[in-house]
Amino acid sequence: MAKLWGGRFSKNTNELVDAFNASIDFDKRLYREDIRGSIAHAGMLAKCGIIPAEDGEKIIAGLKDILADIEAGNFSFEVALEDIHMNVEARLTERIGAAGARLHTARSRNDQVALDMHMYMKREVAEIAELLIRFEKAVLTVAKKHDKTLMPGYTHLQRAQPITLAHHLLAYFNMLQRDFRRLLGVWEGADMMPLGAGAIAGTTFPIDRFDVAEQLNFGKVYCNSMDAVSDRDYVIEFLSFASTLMMHMSRLSEELCLWSSTEFAFIEFDDAFATGSSMMPQKKNPDIAELVRGKTGRVYGHLMGMLTTAKGLPLTYNKDLQEDKEGFFDAVDTVKFTLQVYADMLLTMTVNVDKMAEAVSKDFSNATDLADYLVRKGLPFRQAHEVVGKCVAYAILNGKFLPEISIEEYKKFSELFEEDLLVALEPYNCVAARKSYGGPAFTENAKQFVLGDEVLAEQEAKLAELMAKL
Ligand code: ARG
Repeated sequence: MAKLWGGRFSKNTNELVDAFNASIDFDKRLYREDIRGSIAHAGMLAKCGIIPAEDGEKIIAGLKDILADIEAGNFSFEVALEDIHMNVEARLTERIGAAGARLHTARSRNDQVALDMHMYMKREVAEIAELLIRFEKAVLTVAKKHDKTLMPGYTHLQRAQPITLAHHLLAYFNMLQRDFRRLLGVWEGADMMPLGAGAIAGTTFPIDRFDVAEQLNFGKVYCNSMDAVSDRDYVIEFLSFASTLMMHMSRLSEELCLWSSTEFAFIEFDDAFATGSSMMPQKKNPDIAELVRGKTGRVYGHLMGMLTTAKGLPLTYNKDLQEDKEGFFDAVDTVKFTLQVYADMLLTMTVNVDKMAEAVSKDFSNATDLADYLVRKGLPFRQAHEVVGKCVAYAILNGKFLPEISIEEYKKFSELFEEDLLVALEPYNCVAARKSYGGPAFTENAKQFVLGDEVLAEQEAKLAELMAKL
């Protein structure tokens, strides 16, 4: 097959070179953006008098036909034509003749691929924003449902202090809000129009880059032609957002795996969201949570891959940059799939409220509250800590928990102890009393629920804004 760049070559390309060089197998995913970008470019060339108006019209009609053919599955992508850009352009010229051969005026594949990637990223950012909002809603819904569900909070994976499942999930809800903010930052990076940079040094033709930006709804235009074709920081920003989001999802997954074990038995996944074992008939495995934890590794890998690919490259375009795509596409798919499956997994899981309550009542997670009790009676905290530490050691020695020690026994440790210490030890009261801003008190979380709904409404408004700028 004749190459679009064949003029200076006197031999056919080696077959392995064709296969090694080609990106069509994965960059065909950019076909919509490639065609839309070319339509905008052709329209601009005609408007600026760089190509005849009738050629512009022919090109645009031809590109629309190609789009329809691809969507109908009537387009065969050729490896010999290397990438999506040359596949589309070659087909166009085949169909409309000379006019098609004018499309690439004042353009290079270097700025073309950058344009496609920016547009594609904007579309995916909007889709991910929608899925992220949906997931945040699921987290908030389960949190609201469990506003009174007591459980131990952990540090070092040791029972620490009583909290509610709501408070625990709200922690994730807050992390996800920051992920949403980071995603908006990714949008900002992608919303800059590179076309018109040419291969490296712009063009001699009187193009109007701002017209192209306007046609394609870009907010900004790259103002240095070399920067526009060199950098992939927008991909790195996406992968860094994706890595952080997956890190959060992975931590939640780790907890859900633990909680679904017989040892914890805090939750049970719905049968539709768990899997069995081919050998052990009794097994019900949390594969989804495990896979999310596992897939986090490969998203990190894509971030490291892209950073490493870019680090030694001299300006401007180098073919190494073609390596920006597969990892990015895979990260997009992984994040979208994860958010989708996870929302329903959370909404359908059963929370074993009694098991959680039992865990928080048969342990020492109320010890800080006993120390605080002594502080309220006038003892300095450090001494109160010491006294309660001794009470805990005594209880452990006698096979008891704090509420089971008699008041006479307590008096031996401090005269300040009275009968009312039992009230302070009640896990429900421990939680209710932690009213400091951001604390787990029921009243505090009730405020967070209201705020959470407001944040989600703001995010939805932001999403609508993004959709209008696609
Ligand atoms: N397939 C290429 C890529 O993804 C398009 C740009 C090719 N440019 C070039 N000068 N060979 O990076």
